[in-house]
Amino acid sequence: MGNRVITFGTFDVFHVGHVNILEKCSQLGSELIVGVSSDALNFKKKNRYPVYDEYSRLKIIKSLKFVNEVFIEESLEQKRHYINYYRANILAMGDDWEGRFDDLRDICEVTYFPRTPSISTTEIIEIARKL
Ligand code: CTP
Repeated sequence: MGNRVITFGTFDVFHVGHVNILEKCSQLGSELIVGVSSDALNFKKKNRYPVYDEYSRLKIIKSLKFVNEVFIEESLEQKRHYINYYRANILAMGDDWEGRFDDLRDICEVTYFPRTPSISTTEIIEIARKL
């Protein structure tokens, strides 16, 4: 059986950095499961609500050809539960999270990918504000 890969993120104002990481994650296995942060979790994490609500963000991620399953991530602390529930054997994240999830190595492989340079949701919002 192929690897089941899981990753997490807000994926607000979808951009090519998001495509790149999801594509890289999908190349690690045969199934890619994506936890999309809830609006409430995003507020806790980044102190602002996303531009697109959780249902829109989930719908966008679900529509991608290299994504097999999606769900709303309600809490950062429940990663262990989600990994077990979705029977994932690889957790892959962008390297802005480097080292943060190493404690999960007892239940799965943990990999961090380099971020795509020079693009982020925050930066896109800043640029749009100035227009
Ligand atoms: N990501 C990436 N390269 C980028 C931006 C994001 O690889 N240039 C990855 C992150 O490392 C994460 C996933 O995409 O694994 C979702 O990141 P998210 O926080 O939703 O996107 P950002 O653009 O970083 O959003 P923000 O600016 O609000 O932090």
